Amino acid sequence: PTVIFQLPDGTERKVTAASGTVLMQAAVAHAVEGIVAECGGNASCATCHVYVDATQADLVGPPNDVEDEMLDFTAAERRPTSRLSCQVQLSDALDGLVVHVPEEQV
Ligand code: FES
Repeated sequence: PTVIFQLPDGTERKVTAASGTVLMQAAVAHAVEGIVAECGGNASCATCHVYVDATQADLVGPPNDVEDEMLDFTAAERRPTSRLSCQVQLSDALDGLVVHVPEEQV
């Protein structure tokens, strides 16, 4: 699937990754700015925070319990569509996913 990262400065990064890839890993592999991922994907740093596009929130689904707690510690404000990108697994159903990278992660 292909994912579009919208950066705070208005630019867009299009990344294609294999189905099953974790969204955070796809971002890091393509050096997408603003996905810091300090903890390496353990849902314990909240520096891989993204806002799923509102039109696709249902498709992506809600955070798991651990993630939900960690989302209270994001540097940028938490919103209803906030997710930790290390907890989102890509699938063909998510082809065309748009996520917004917040202004700050730490
Ligand atoms: Fe640390 Fe996602 S990489 S919470």
